[in-house]
Order: sequence, then C-alpha cells, then structure tokens
Amino acid sequence: MRIISQPRCGATSKTEITSARLSAISYRSQFEDGGGSKAEAEGRYASPRLLCVDSVCCERTLGFMGEKFPKKQKQPGLPHVTRRTFLGTTLVSGATLLAGGSSAIFGASSSTGTSANPDSMWKLGGDLPVNRLGFGAMRITGDGIWGWPADRANAIKVLKRAHELGVNLIDTADAYGPEVSELLIAEALHPYPKGLVIATKGGLTRPGPGQWVPNGRPEYLKQCVDKSLKRLRLDRIDLYQLHRIDPKVPVEDSLGALKEMQQAGKIRHVGLSEVSPEQIERARKILPIVSVQNQYNIGNRKWENTLVYCEKERLGFMPWSPVGGNRGLNSERGLEAAAKDHSATVYQLALAWLLHRSPVMLPIPGTSSVAHLEENMAAAALKLTPADWKTIDALAGRA
Ligand SMILES: NC(=O)c1ccc[n+]([C@@H]2O[C@H](COP(=O)([O-])OP(=O)(O)OC[C@H]3O[C@@H](n4cnc5c(N)ncnc54)[C@H](OP(=O)(O)O)[C@@H]3O)[C@@H](O)[C@H]2O)c1
Repeated sequence: MRIISQPRCGATSKTEITSARLSAISYRSQFEDGGGSKAEAEGRYASPRLLCVDSVCCERTLGFMGEKFPKKQKQPGLPHVTRRTFLGTTLVSGATLLAGGSSAIFGASSSTGTSANPDSMWKLGGDLPVNRLGFGAMRITGDGIWGWPADRANAIKVLKRAHELGVNLIDTADAYGPEVSELLIAEALHPYPKGLVIATKGGLTRPGPGQWVPNGRPEYLKQCVDKSLKRLRLDRIDLYQLHRIDPKVPVEDSLGALKEMQQAGKIRHVGLSEVSPEQIERARKILPIVSVQNQYNIGNRKWENTLVYCEKERLGFMPWSPVGGNRGLNSERGLEAAAKDHSATVYQLALAWLLHRSPVMLPIPGTSSVAHLEENMAAAALKLTPADWKTIDALAGRA
C-alpha cells in the first residue's frame, strides 16, 4: 500500500483566480462574435445558479438546479457499500475492484495497473490503459459549472482523492468553469502521475446563463487545443473530444482541424460527444475516433444504439450523467429498493450496472464531495448475478 503524499493544496495566487474569473466573465467576447457587455457578463457571473450544466439538459436544468436527486437516502440499519464497509469488508474479501483489486483503491498502482483484473481496464485507443471507472471533473467548479468553487481546497482534495482511489481517467472540458476545471486539475495533480489520462473537450462555448453554444470552426478549435494544453500544463492531450458537432460547420472541417493538431503532436487520440452511429461513421472517414461520450444511465438509454455501435467497433463509451446528473435517475423508487437489497446505495447500483452493461463502458461520475467520490468508487466492488441484473433492468423499466 502506498501512502500518497498530500502536498499543500488550495493556495492559489490572486492573479490566477482573477484571470480565470475574468476569462469566465469574458468568454463570449473572447470566442464569440458579438456579445453582451461586460456588465451583463458580470451579472451572469453573479447569478451562477441560472447557468445550466449542459446543452442537452439546458432547458430542463434551469428548473432543476438545486433540486437534485435525493442524496444517499441513508436508512437506519442499512449497510451501504460506503467507504467504511467497503474498506472493512471488500478489501479483506479480495473482491476485484476497478483497477486490479485493492491496490488501485489505495493508489498503490496509480498508473497502468499491470496486475489489474482485465474486466476493470480498458485500453483507450488501444494504447492507453485506464481503469474503467473514471471521474468527471465538471462538478468541481462553481455553482452552475461557472467560476471557481466556493471551497477550492475541497475541489483539490476531491481530485487528489480520485487519484488515490485508482482513478486514472479524468474527464474535463474547457467549458467547465469555463477553464476552471482544467486549471484545478493541473493545480491538484501536476506533475502528473504516470498513466494518468486527462480527457478534455472543446467546441462548446459559454456565451451566458443557460447557454452552451457549439462552435466547430477550425480556427477556434485549434485555439482551444492550444489553450487547454497550456492550462493543463501538457505537451500533448491524451484524449481530445469534440464537445458537440456544430450544425453550422461541416464536421469534416472541425475534425480536419483536430487532425492537424494530432499531426502536430498536440493530441494523441480524438473522441466525440453526443453522436449517433451515423455521425461516428462520418467522422471516422476523417480520422480515427477512439471514444464517444453520450448521456446514458440506467434510467436513460436513449443512446443505446450508439453504445451498441461502440461495442461492435471497440470504441470506449463514456456515459455522462452516469448517476443521473442534476435530474437524478428514472425509476428511482424501484432502484432504491434494489440497492437496499444489495446493501448499496442507488448511486452505487447505477454505476455497477453501467460497468456490468458493457466492457467498453467507461463511466465518469462527477461529484464535488470526497465522501460521494469514495461511495461511487466503491461501486466497482458490487458484483451481482445475471438474475439480479435482470430484475434490476425490469425495475428500471427495461425488462
Ligand atoms: N459530453 C457532455 O456533453 C457532458 C455533459 C455533462 C457532463 N459531462 C461529463 O460527465 C461527467 C458526469 O456528468 P454529471 O456530473 O452531469 O452527472 P452525474 O455524474 O450523473 O451526477 C453528478 C451529480 O450527482 C451528485 N452525486 C454524485 N455522486 C453522488 C453520491 N454518491 N451521492 C449523492 N449525490 C451524488 C453530484 O452532487 P455532489 O457534487 O453533491 O456529489 C452531482 O450533482 C461530468 O463531470 C463531465 O465530465 C459531459
């Protein structure tokens, strides 16, 4: 077992805070044609709750901000697979965890996990081994995915803890904060441990509250790659994902720009987000695509066809909102009962279901809480029988 040293965290120069905050405020003027005044933008910043989390859930999210899926639902006497029970029983029992057993949970194998259970690993692009249960770094920013988090030291702790628990796939985007998530990742983890894969994204701008506007113009995307490299303090981005296909720009042009960046050695692999099999096919005519990031969870399988395509083509599938995002999960009541039957929380059940659903599945649950992170990571230890999963599928409305 390796004890991860905890360098002093959270302390940040005023300049950095100011510049990131300002860049968040002035994102529109930086990247978009036209745009509101600085005063308007500052007004937006002052009301981050009005911002939503993603373009797909924009309309819905405004109504749901602050109305999250009920937390943990602890019930008296219910032995969740929590950090305590997990550490106390699962490790001892030698259950296979996400990255080669208990060592990964404790960070003993922080990188490629050579002794890993093959089921817990995925080789992104065929050459980057990652533990299948990753971490989504969207929630470590300020409220509404805008600006700096209120408790910056806590955000750093979450990132460090994710690494200690064996996470070596962290998903982020220039739009988270914007910029803040990438800056925090570098602050917490740079110089990066061997084997850590940071997957970032570009091509979705933040013009204002509740608005996430695609921009797939080639020059803009090239600028995004350069800026992410700088913020993440990397020479090359392991996985760069086109956050959205811009309907105003031929995808050949957008991906042509990413291909150029790849040829220049600035990107290792390229992924897509919110795409159909047809869109993936079209993209693959331009350059190799190694992963897809679409919204998907036990209660929302609208992208099932894309998952099936990814399985067939051996592309990584990173489901976003794996535990339901802001809206929570559908069929929540049935799942609560099933989770209770298996001494787990519904979050753990939802994540274990994803890992069980497909070997190409790379869930990236997001949280701003160390306790939730630990709870989520423990989900990899939850092993159910095929009959159990059938029952749970039926409960989730998919017999
Ligand atoms: N490609 C895209 O278009 C796109 C869109 C959205 C997100 N993403 C990526 O996908 C990642 C995950 O998506 P997401 O954050 O929307 O959805 P999610 O991971 O399904 O849900 C995160 C929400 O659930 C809560 N939560 C997580 N674990 C919990 C637990 N154990 N107990 C109680 N509450 C818990 C979090 O609150 P707390 O902070 O309080 O724990 C947070 O509000 C993001 O971080 C981002 O990297 C991508």
